[in-house]
Amino acid sequence: MAQYIYHEPVLAAEIIASLVRKPGVYVDGTLGGGGHSLGILRALNEAGYSAGSLVIGIDQDDAALSAAAEKLREFDAHTVLFKGNFAAIESIVQSVCSEKGLKPKVAGILLDLGVSSFQIDTAERGFSYLRDGPLDMRMDMDAPLSAADIVNTYDEKDLARLIYRYGEEPRSRSIAKSIVTYRRDNGPVSRTEELADIIRGNFTGTDKIIKTLSRVFQALRIEVNSELEVLRKVLYDGIECLDDHGRMAVISYHSLEDRIVKTVFAEKAKSDWGPKGVGLREPLRRGSISLVTRKPLIAAQQEIDSNPRARSAKLRVIEKISQGGYREGQ
Ligand SMILES: C[S@@+](CC[C@H](N)C(=O)[O-])C[C@H]1O[C@@H](n2cnc3c(N)ncnc32)[C@H](O)[C@@H]1O
Repeated sequence: MAQYIYHEPVLAAEIIASLVRKPGVYVDGTLGGGGHSLGILRALNEAGYSAGSLVIGIDQDDAALSAAAEKLREFDAHTVLFKGNFAAIESIVQSVCSEKGLKPKVAGILLDLGVSSFQIDTAERGFSYLRDGPLDMRMDMDAPLSAADIVNTYDEKDLARLIYRYGEEPRSRSIAKSIVTYRRDNGPVSRTEELADIIRGNFTGTDKIIKTLSRVFQALRIEVNSELEVLRKVLYDGIECLDDHGRMAVISYHSLEDRIVKTVFAEKAKSDWGPKGVGLREPLRRGSISLVTRKPLIAAQQEIDSNPRARSAKLRVIEKISQGGYREGQ
């Protein structure tokens, strides 16, 4: 389908190598154009695992689901595409598996976070300061809150806090002030280009302007889609869905996301040995996962050269520890 342009999936070979190890249920929580799912389905097929396998592809964007349905057509019998938020992974897995008569335990989960190149490149979705469009930024077009709602209704303090927290932008206060002044004098801000011009007004030269534009747009996008809240939820709930030795692979694209992934994985991997000096032979509570990647994997220069989106990608992988056995130090 020519109108849906999705770039090459990021770290695709690494995802396949770390996730696809046995037949079973796989969840692609960020289906997008279906590039990673296609790789997983092909790998399952090549390993002779197709018969016992199903890929559940979740996306909150209808356009992504249509594009992926087209791409994955040859594997129709082994895929279920689901419109929803990955924060609901537990109930989605339960309902799909019960419909298919499968045990609701998952062999692999992939999360390739953030927005797709298709969403960014589509001006009408309003994600980009490079393309003029309505100030929207909703991944789920049925969601109630758009970027325009935030820009036009939050007070100056809340706007500044948001731009600082989710954009890590040092000029957050002056940018918030300029937005509030503009909307008082000119009425609501409705276009991406209009917002970009207001932000540009805080600069005299061209220094760091691009960085600031992307930081403010990132902050709004995170708030519109509650990205960090749903990320925390899917990490905890996804681990619950995993079968013994099932794996979860997460690709993040900025430090706010990666910090959450790293912290949740570290917490779930840690055993509780009680107060120091007690000398227990067994921990009070065992970690429920092991870290497959102690340090995040990053893309090779060759991949970055052909797919600039891979530049900031960080991949972390964990494995659920079998209920029956504990492998310390993993
Ligand atoms: C980076 S793209 C994924 C690209 C995909 N891996 C591919 O190969 O084409 C992220 C996708 O995840 C979706 N997404 C992001 N957060 C989501 C969430 N909380 N729930 C469901 N889908 C989400 C976006 O709508 C977008 O289509």
